[in-house]
Amino acid sequence: MTAHASTDGANSMRSAAWFSAGGRAGMIYRSWLQSEGFTPEVFDGRPVIGIANSWSELTPCNAHLRGVADAVKRGVWQAGGFPLEFPTMSLGEPLMRPTAMLFRNLMAMEVEETLRANPLDAVVLLSGCDKTTPAMLMAAASVDLPAIMVTGGPMLNGKFRGGNVGSGTHVWRFEQEYAAGRMTQEELYAAETGMARSCGHCMTMGTASTMACLAETLGMQLPGSAAWPAADTRRIRTAHQAGQRIVELARTDLRPSRVMTRQAFENAIIVNAAIGGSTNAVIHLLAIAGRLGVQLSLDDFDALARPVPTLVNLMPSGQYLMEDFCYAGGVPAVMRELAGLLHTDHVGVTGRTLADTIAAAECWNREVIRPLADPLQPAGSGTAVLRGNLCPDGAVIKQSAASPELLRHRGQALVFDSIEEYHLAAADPSLEADESTVLVVRGAGPQGYPGMPEIGNFVLPGKLLERGVTDMVRISDARMSGTGFGTVVLHVAPEAAAGGPLALVRTGDFITLDVPVRTLTLEVSDDELTRRRAAWQPPEAQFSRGYARLYVDHVQQASQGADLDFLVGASGAAVPRDNH
Ligand code: FES
Repeated sequence: MTAHASTDGANSMRSAAWFSAGGRAGMIYRSWLQSEGFTPEVFDGRPVIGIANSWSELTPCNAHLRGVADAVKRGVWQAGGFPLEFPTMSLGEPLMRPTAMLFRNLMAMEVEETLRANPLDAVVLLSGCDKTTPAMLMAAASVDLPAIMVTGGPMLNGKFRGGNVGSGTHVWRFEQEYAAGRMTQEELYAAETGMARSCGHCMTMGTASTMACLAETLGMQLPGSAAWPAADTRRIRTAHQAGQRIVELARTDLRPSRVMTRQAFENAIIVNAAIGGSTNAVIHLLAIAGRLGVQLSLDDFDALARPVPTLVNLMPSGQYLMEDFCYAGGVPAVMRELAGLLHTDHVGVTGRTLADTIAAAECWNREVIRPLADPLQPAGSGTAVLRGNLCPDGAVIKQSAASPELLRHRGQALVFDSIEEYHLAAADPSLEADESTVLVVRGAGPQGYPGMPEIGNFVLPGKLLERGVTDMVRISDARMSGTGFGTVVLHVAPEAAAGGPLALVRTGDFITLDVPVRTLTLEVSDDELTRRRAAWQPPEAQFSRGYARLYVDHVQQASQGADLDFLVGASGAAVPRDNH
């Protein structure tokens, strides 16, 4: 053998600890990889690039990522690296029960440990569906190996009866139409065939698109790459370019901790407001920041988003879809519009400043990406953070997807201890509720469900839908799909299962929502709440063992990012002990 790197420590790559090793250990490392057909040249000290692939047929949004990985590999080889693809846990929103969010932290832990345990110098992260992107960013942050993310891209626009239909958003709309008797089951069958007509993730500005855009804003994706549709060849070319670029990152040791800075998170919060992004971004960004030691709080989201108008006219806040967003110019065009609000000296994985990156970014469709001077919704219409005696640690509401006339509302609570209990009641024509009622569902927080499912935008009671009511104030400790809409207060913290005041609300209590002044108030005296608290019993534990038990025992509240407490922070990429 002549091609492997010297064993004298001259090679500074992390992988040299494996492939430049002498004696028995080096022989084992090199020999077993040669069993895959690699020739000895791959051990000559070139960067070893992991391709972390969340491909799975159980995650339809990520099912095309094998092809994307092939393009990354070509780029890595071309740039002189040695690519090694490996599977990761995969989290698919459509199929996983009880909720994919229960497993975000597990996936993050799995990816983190896989990266650290193996002879990798850098990694390309292939994600798509909602939780796969934040999970991989959390992992990359905790290992802090040079990393580039390549998201799988959105589906092509959905089509039904000559019009666009948006994944998720139209599911909720059609559900309401069906519940109100205005659509038949046959029509639902017809609609579903046109809703997901290519590979890729949801093509609305749901959580997957939001997190893809924010990964780009954070500087972890190549410019423009969040919006290329999964079926567009430019998705493949972006992947190829990422493969080329990651080799350079390995050589220059540009790590996530130098990319995902406080400045980068501030940019992400501002862009999230402008794109009408998902409320889930709040939880995911807090969790990623927690891994990096970046100080970020729930209140930062409100303060930084307030001066930002909604510019992007995409469902669920607007009318268009990700394919349109791509052709209009995507994230670079939005960031150029927002340049005066952003940290344009930030440097991402391109190695260039944001100012340089967006200098030539054009907007090709002003209906889809509106100018600052003529926004879709005015400044301050993004996700608001509420405080009050019902949510002492905060709650959020996506104003751009809410009904303006309900943003100030006082009504009597109708309380349910589970979403199942609500669904039973909502189908009952004798349910005592009208459009002023404030619907409260609890027991759906991180600990309570567990996993904090996306049920916060639960469908309205059937009898009110039949009367033509389209929105009501809803409050829960749950999340909402990024594709969802309505006047829904989410992420109430502390959650009911943790003994938050939400657990003490009773049917008939008055609740006042005042989004302009950012308050959510339960109109019950402190003395009465103290009496109720004394009588409150925590819910019985649902799990005695396994991951769910670990999760419930250690998950943080939504206001902190819902990470597991022992995963907050980073352990770095130090080479583990050699067992050979
Ligand atoms: Fe995977 Fe929406 S279901 S992105």
